[in-house]
Amino acid sequence: MHRIAALLIVAMSIPAAAQTIRSTPEKLQWTLNAGEMSYVIGVNDQKMLQSLYWGPRLAPNASFPPAQAHPERASFDPPVATTPLEYAGWGAGLFTEPALKVDSPDGNRTLILLYQDARVTGPQLEVTLKDATEPVLVHLFYQLYPQGILARWTRIENTGAQPVRIEQAASATFNLPPATGYEWSWLSGQWAGEWQLHTAPIQAGTQSIESRRGSTSHQANPWFSVGRSAETTETSGPVWFGELGWSGSWRLTLEDTALNLVRITAGFNPFDFSYTLARGETLQTPPFYAGYTAGGRGEASRILHRFLLEAILPSHPDPRPRPIIYNSWEATGFNVNESGQMALAEKAAAIGVERFVIDDGWFGARNDDHAGLGDWNVNPQKFPHGLKPVIDRVHALGMDFGLWVEPEMVNLDSDLYRAHPDWAMHFPNRQRTEQRNQLVLNLARQDVKDYVFHFLDELVTDNDIAFLKWDYNRNWSEPGWDTAPDGDQKEIYVRYIQNLYDILSRLRQKHPKLEIESCSGGGGRVDLGILRYTDEVWPSDNTDALDRLSIQDGFTHAYAPQIMVAWVTDVPNYNSRSTPLQFRFLTAMQGALGVGANLNKFSENELAESRSLIALYKTIRPTIAHGRLYRLTEPAPPNPAADAAQPSNVEYVAQDGSQAVVLAYLHSQRFGLSYPAVVLRGLDPNATYTIKPLHPSQYTGELNVSGSILMGQGLALNLQGDYDSTVVVLTRR
Ligand code: DGJ
Repeated sequence: MHRIAALLIVAMSIPAAAQTIRSTPEKLQWTLNAGEMSYVIGVNDQKMLQSLYWGPRLAPNASFPPAQAHPERASFDPPVATTPLEYAGWGAGLFTEPALKVDSPDGNRTLILLYQDARVTGPQLEVTLKDATEPVLVHLFYQLYPQGILARWTRIENTGAQPVRIEQAASATFNLPPATGYEWSWLSGQWAGEWQLHTAPIQAGTQSIESRRGSTSHQANPWFSVGRSAETTETSGPVWFGELGWSGSWRLTLEDTALNLVRITAGFNPFDFSYTLARGETLQTPPFYAGYTAGGRGEASRILHRFLLEAILPSHPDPRPRPIIYNSWEATGFNVNESGQMALAEKAAAIGVERFVIDDGWFGARNDDHAGLGDWNVNPQKFPHGLKPVIDRVHALGMDFGLWVEPEMVNLDSDLYRAHPDWAMHFPNRQRTEQRNQLVLNLARQDVKDYVFHFLDELVTDNDIAFLKWDYNRNWSEPGWDTAPDGDQKEIYVRYIQNLYDILSRLRQKHPKLEIESCSGGGGRVDLGILRYTDEVWPSDNTDALDRLSIQDGFTHAYAPQIMVAWVTDVPNYNSRSTPLQFRFLTAMQGALGVGANLNKFSENELAESRSLIALYKTIRPTIAHGRLYRLTEPAPPNPAADAAQPSNVEYVAQDGSQAVVLAYLHSQRFGLSYPAVVLRGLDPNATYTIKPLHPSQYTGELNVSGSILMGQGLALNLQGDYDSTVVVLTRR
């Protein structure tokens, strides 16, 4: 009896989700396991590296036969098209998306990448491929993470004497198991309307999402998920998912080939791309992260959330939940000054804010968006004594201080532009297209990079700044780099972003306490590349609480609530909608709560309500930031034909199960219809939970309820009237 118990304990203490790489040298096969997923690759009889499996975790003794190149199916379908290749060079009749395309000085433009060798180092596998005659080595990297994520990236190396020009370089291709009936989801959007989720059947042909803008973009995000139409839902079914970690132009191509192979390739956007490797030089692609779960779209996002917190963010594996921010932008616009900001700071501190941020307008001749960008000296009319008095006051009020910057931009009306017009991206003798009256500095240049690093370093050294909101308010229109050597100008797409990451990284090293938000006119630069250097993001300039419900819902498919900053702002909002203060607070509480309203206009009652909601948020913040998110009822537009009131519910369960939080929103009441029961997930069915709604009248059930009832019958809430809302805190007894 004792022996059995002991054996069980030993078995249970081996984490089922440990990441392992099993090499089978005689078959040249590698089985990579992480979390719920296994991924198997092998070298076939023609020395091609091919995908053998991507799906649920395999049994330890599961074994595949040696890989075989698939035969030519017809004279129109050679083996490179029929075989699911891991990383295909363009050559030998590849008519699908190549991972790599090069142009050699001898006129050859094809590559046939064959296996050379492989090396396993801990959770990392490196497989090297080589062309038979071209001096190009391709190192494929596979890195496993315990959350169930596989990162793949590639280093391309020129081992010859002559330069090699890369025309197209992907991070990786992922092949799905051969089958039909797949569907895929992606996120699209626009300024003030980011993070719209789409799901559609995968049909024959090629589809792609991309950015050609020089940055990640509002219009599409480099994330995907694939399910099976007949099986996959939010709560169950297989999901293959992934995300590219790159903040520059990117492309993700999804193909359902003529032979029903579904393959997903992502990396640098080949549009306008070129990168020359001189002898011995290398180009490394960004990582393309991927995972698999059988637990539906909800579980796929929970895996990504944990991965972001535990492996990506600068303070991983345990980033602290975000401080509650006050931001001046919607309250005072460009009209910031010492007395006005101090008055707002007093009010912000009184309601429980922890970080006070002065947004745009504090520097140079910045009275509107026509001037000043690039001149990062404090405006003496607005702050005659510098920033110190405001910062001291903010500290005395018990908050830390943050500042807005937009380091990569310049207004034509600025001293910086007058001194260095050549620093702005441009093509010789061509117009410079302004957007928001500004141009983009060419960060690929060493002198521009030095300037940006030094002004930021000085700003943070001279002022006690805990936080920078790093904004970026336009895309590229003339990506010229006329001082680069001939033929290298297009490297701007890579070198700009590498320099951006380098500046962020050096700044953080030099100022270890500094925290940074990635903002690009809202959610235009959110990706797993920038998130290695930034602590949070601004998902959208749209702060309307109702619009935000769907924006935030889409956001959480790819990124975690921990980083999702959301402010409570004034009503009526830009879109003329007025929602109650409680609804606005509860919407912003879905992520990192902030306040952007003009507190000078708040009544005593509104200030008191804000104070008490912020105090409540502080008690649930760890669960929201680090817990498991369940999207219970996704927000839908008001539907007059609905036979129930229009609900929207999210739930967060603390990792240790001690607390759960439900946020519920009724955005449009229908006469006589009650709020549908909220069926919870992720609780312990055998535990009892004590239930505390925001207002006692919003819940009429028992005080202590079994988890099995909450997950079976649900929580009966009494929400009434348009824009009613509640937060229910469940404490495990
Ligand atoms: C765009 C940002 O998204 C806003 O929050 C604000 O910082 C403005 N820029 C300031 O110009």
